[in-house]
Amino acid sequence: MNFLIINGPNLNLLGKREPNIYGDSSFESYFEKLKENFPNTKLSYYQSNIEGEIINKLHEVGFDYDGIILNAAAYTHTSIAIADAVKAIKTPVVEVHISNTHGREEFRHKSFIAKNAKGVILGFGLDSYKLAIQSFL
Ligand code: DQA
Repeated sequence: MNFLIINGPNLNLLGKREPNIYGDSSFESYFEKLKENFPNTKLSYYQSNIEGEIINKLHEVGFDYDGIILNAAAYTHTSIAIADAVKAIKTPVVEVHISNTHGREEFRHKSFIAKNAKGVILGFGLDSYKLAIQSFL
């Protein structure tokens, strides 16, 4: 099975960015360990800080892959365009967040993407990604 993780803006700074919220591991080093957990699965990873690039990537893989794990970061709370792209594609999308967005500022409680996602996993640190892959398997 073929899965893609898409990370949105500022998630390239994981490990350096607000470690009290997001932890002290870079996504790249977590991703290496994650792949070891799913040896029979093809897992790839894409990150962009640019809304349109995230949409292009959803279009590119969204009719062929078995699942997409999407952390759209702050775009979750603002982007109707990403929500529409998730709705437009065939591949199911699981929305993930590292932090428990419901325990944070009110503007983080709203997700435009959630209603078009297969499900939402949040608040389990980087293991939110692992749980999302398990949900597909
Ligand atoms: C986040 C939560 C968002 O509110 C925030 O803008 C992020 C990261 C998370 O994974 O917890 O950048 O998506």
